[in-house]
Amino acid sequence: MAENNQNAMAGKAPAKPKPAAPVAAKPAAPGTAKPAAKPEAPQSGVYKPPVERADTNPYKDSRVSALGTWFQERFSVMIPVIDYLKKKEVPQHRHSVWYYFGGLTLFFFIVQVLTGLLLLQYYKPTEAAAFASFVFIQQEVPFGWLIRQIHAWSANAMILMAFIHMFSTFFMKAYRKPRELMWVSGFVLFVLSLGFGFTGYLLPWNELAFFATQVGTEVPKVAPGGAFIVNILRGGEEVSGETLTRMFSMHIVLLPGILLIILAVHLLLVQVLGTSAPIGYKESGRIKGYEKFFPTFLAKDAIGWLIGFAVIIYLSIISPWEIGVQANPLAPAPLGIKPEWYFWGQFLLLKDFSFPGGELLAIALFTTAALLWVLVPFIDRRASREERSPYFTLFGLFLFVAFIVYTFRVFLMYY
Ligand code: HEM
Repeated sequence: MAENNQNAMAGKAPAKPKPAAPVAAKPAAPGTAKPAAKPEAPQSGVYKPPVERADTNPYKDSRVSALGTWFQERFSVMIPVIDYLKKKEVPQHRHSVWYYFGGLTLFFFIVQVLTGLLLLQYYKPTEAAAFASFVFIQQEVPFGWLIRQIHAWSANAMILMAFIHMFSTFFMKAYRKPRELMWVSGFVLFVLSLGFGFTGYLLPWNELAFFATQVGTEVPKVAPGGAFIVNILRGGEEVSGETLTRMFSMHIVLLPGILLIILAVHLLLVQVLGTSAPIGYKESGRIKGYEKFFPTFLAKDAIGWLIGFAVIIYLSIISPWEIGVQANPLAPAPLGIKPEWYFWGQFLLLKDFSFPGGELLAIALFTTAALLWVLVPFIDRRASREERSPYFTLFGLFLFVAFIVYTFRVFLMYY
């Protein structure tokens, strides 16, 4: 028992008991028939398979409290998982700081779920009531203003963190073999995060959101079959109360549902494949050491989350998001309609290509770049052979600089 306790504390599984050797049942001698053995009374409500198996709970003798015992009996199957988590290690080198951004993205997503659930208690997703319910949350509900501000700021923080995480994993070539599916699942998560931003923008039903959604949902129209997509997004020909219902259902059910499934895959792969180090770092001795993921790295992650949360609270107080004026579908579009900052790049690209056929060309360019981006792990064969691939680094730099320049140009146009 003491040894088991020590093993449990050291994270080691004690030697498994050997299964008993099967004993052949002897046929009873004629005339000496004994009454059949009474079936063993079940000792607990736990299902016991009818075959003899090695004990799945190697820690059953290392119980610490009654509550611990209760959980051990029911979740002993999780013990190997916890052991597995304890084995994961994070390499330490001069670019290790970038490993925190995946966790930060996850943190802001959790903040979104929690604050979103609170907002749902008062938000009314109809054309007639949406705007008024936002005003009510902001002005009447105790701390409603704070929850709404955190939700709005954390949405931006989540997308910013996902951007940084995506580009940092790209430049560290963390997508290379065998992490291809980590990259692909990550890309899907990124698109879903943008989808959250797009669908959430309309929910306050204010003038800016209404007309920006009109512009945004118009974009696919120029592509072949695009009218059909526009119809699906809007729930009709025009942006209306139907569009609000669609955006709301996508925002609170469809997108979170898909995101949770893909996120589970992404995080499972992170655990199974571990954290990568940049190409050549191991061989050239640039890895200073390894840090246990659980609990050391996770504890440092948590410090980053607390700092991130403090920044969000600070911004919510000193720079609150406005509610604006209620949308009026019959009014002319006001000047200065623009989407959220993370769509500025695409927005300006479409404006720059406003010559005949230009919009379709811009969409084609953008789609090709996105396809190349998501397929990078399969195209960059040099990285998968652990060789440097400078052309891919240049491709990433080009996209990064183009995004920054385009975003900054929109900033200069409107501010
Ligand atoms: C909702 C969005 C996302 C969440 C919550 C998320 C979460 C995480 C977490 C917690 C990690 C482990 C810690 C780390 O290395 O940072 C990770 C690793 C990784 N993520 Fe993401 N991620 C997201 C989006 C993305 C995107 C957009 C990409 C790229 C397109 C991506 C690609 C990767 C890769 C390649 C790794 C492995 C890093 C390595 O082994 O060095 N992820 N992700």
